[in-house]
Amino acid sequence: MEVIIQPTREAAALLTAKVIADEVRKNPSAVLGFATGATVEPVYANLIEMHHKEGLDFSLCKSFNLDEYVGLSGDHPGSYRYFMNSHLFDHINIDKRNTRVPNGMASDLAAECLTYEEAIWHAGGIDLQLVGIGMDGHIGFNEPMSSLQSRTRVKQLNPVTIRQNAGYFGGADKMPRRAITMGVGTILDSQRCVLLATGSAKAEILAEAIEGPFCARVTASALQWHRRAVVIVDEACAANLKNREYYDWSFAHEPEWAPFRG
Ligand code: PGA
Repeated sequence: MEVIIQPTREAAALLTAKVIADEVRKNPSAVLGFATGATVEPVYANLIEMHHKEGLDFSLCKSFNLDEYVGLSGDHPGSYRYFMNSHLFDHINIDKRNTRVPNGMASDLAAECLTYEEAIWHAGGIDLQLVGIGMDGHIGFNEPMSSLQSRTRVKQLNPVTIRQNAGYFGGADKMPRRAITMGVGTILDSQRCVLLATGSAKAEILAEAIEGPFCARVTASALQWHRRAVVIVDEACAANLKNREYYDWSFAHEPEWAPFRG
């Protein structure tokens, strides 16, 4: 795992977008794993700008989203299909037929989860997976104590998560209680994983996830097991990290990062 600390939220989001753009340029038919939430909104804004100004081409890409609420259709403003269309897909040249978000309206949710896993497999696996971290340390909706080898399935949301996302629904009472989510094992299968976390509210849980023990209580800690994970944070979110000196040194000297340094 590599950890990169950027001065601001904007710089962290821009670097994340550059890493995704670099993947798409090197591999035009990349299979991308997308995330939703406030943290990644500026990443998508940067990708849209790169598409318009630099001709970043998504026409051959495929995508899979981490999760979706059970019971919401794609035209519900709180759904993650709606989020992806409005924050990214409607503004770039990806073929929407190649974008997958779990179907939270499926009559057979278990079958939908299995089909989702199969679709990822048929696409050749995910080349680059973007993830955020929840206040409870989740990745996707893999709430505390999720199996670290779990696959796509339905999860009961944590009250912490319900409080975190209630604003999107005009109150916790209006928020779905369950979601389909890629499993921790599904995320670990990606070739590369980029975790973006910003803001002081996440500083404590972020430090637990990346410098604490590998444990199901904080499912983001599973990224310590990932073959190629990079964690991009802003200063505020990096506040509790202990190995800061090494992270900064490594980013400053690692040849692979040379094109990405300011
Ligand atoms: P946020 O969500 O970006 O809205 O904080 C991240 C997450 O819960 O994974």
